[in-house]
Amino acid sequence: MDTRQHHDSPTSIRVEPASRVLAAAGVTALRAPSIWNTQPWHWRIEHDTAQLRADRSRQLRSIDPDGRLLTISCGVALHHADVALRAAGTAAVIDRLPDGDDPDLLAVLRYAGRVEWSPTAQRLRRAIAARRSDRRPFADEPVPEHKVDRLRDAAHRAGADLHIVRPQDLTTLTVAAGHASAAERTDPQYRAELATWTGTRLEGGEGVPLDTVAPVGARPVPIRDFTGADPGPSIYSGIDVMDRNARYGVIVTDVDEPAGWLVAGEALSAVLLTATAEGLATSAMSDLVENSAARVMLRRMLGNVGHPAIGVRIGVPGHGAAPPQAPRRPAKDAVEVVVDPDEPLQGP
Ligand SMILES: Cc1cc2nc3c(=O)[nH]c(=O)nc-3n(C[C@H](O)[C@H](O)[C@H](O)COP(=O)(O)O)c2cc1C
Repeated sequence: MDTRQHHDSPTSIRVEPASRVLAAAGVTALRAPSIWNTQPWHWRIEHDTAQLRADRSRQLRSIDPDGRLLTISCGVALHHADVALRAAGTAAVIDRLPDGDDPDLLAVLRYAGRVEWSPTAQRLRRAIAARRSDRRPFADEPVPEHKVDRLRDAAHRAGADLHIVRPQDLTTLTVAAGHASAAERTDPQYRAELATWTGTRLEGGEGVPLDTVAPVGARPVPIRDFTGADPGPSIYSGIDVMDRNARYGVIVTDVDEPAGWLVAGEALSAVLLTATAEGLATSAMSDLVENSAARVMLRRMLGNVGHPAIGVRIGVPGHGAAPPQAPRRPAKDAVEVVVDPDEPLQGP
């Protein structure tokens, strides 16, 4: 069997049509956001299936010892791939965590023929290309309530809930973010991993470029400080508070285990892409759930119903140019197409 790495142009390799469609979806899904832009996934396309595997060599040991954020990131990629397939008029049957003996095999997508053209899939497909994390202060305009409802619906359709945090609960988020940053700032492993993923990794098309991050500043809920500087106090009374009109959502799942984390990622993707399609800006906030004490606080805020998987900051984009897009690894490193020269070409 001849295994070839995929190249950036999916049509450059002679493979059967189902594999080609799946490979193109895998390539599109490389734009998925991931924790610190680690892109902890590997796609393997063979005949009419695409396997999504976790790449544990990219797991962050300091903030993600259980692989929760890695699995959420892969869930985002899974949803991106599904959107790409549907936008290309293709249906796929998705089998999540199909092999109990192989926990790194997170999903198998099987080509399932053609589907009708869907305007929603087209909008979300366009949003994949346009979306980026926007950590700048949001504009001082409220997020229209009907758009918030659409985000909730999107999460629900993807299998999880989007809990919109009530104003009276914002201090819970502030304290949760404070817990994480206080613990992480003094953790040498965290500082070393942060330095790697905001520095040396960038040349390979991965990691968080500093021109995509924004000053923490005075915000009701502080954002993660990628610069490693001291964020200062997290409760403010001054007039220059940014993000006053931000909304905060928490993706909530039924179970706190890999199956739930994968679905959380799919729902996060649905929320982020829908927000982009609605002209909203977003950034994910996993610091809210990286610390077990913070997770307990968030869970209490949810009335002990469901499990908080990840936070998301939502708002009307600030003025000025949008932040640059973070780079991605080349497709040949993350999407592999298996070619069997003895098999006759088959498929759609
Ligand atoms: C599971 C997960 C956790 C993330 N956590 C944070 C976070 O705590 N703070 C933050 O600013 N961005 C966070 N992000 C956003 C990533 O840093 C971002 O997606 C990545 O750097 C790629 O950039 P892009 O979103 O602009 O494509 C997270 C994304 C994912 C999927």
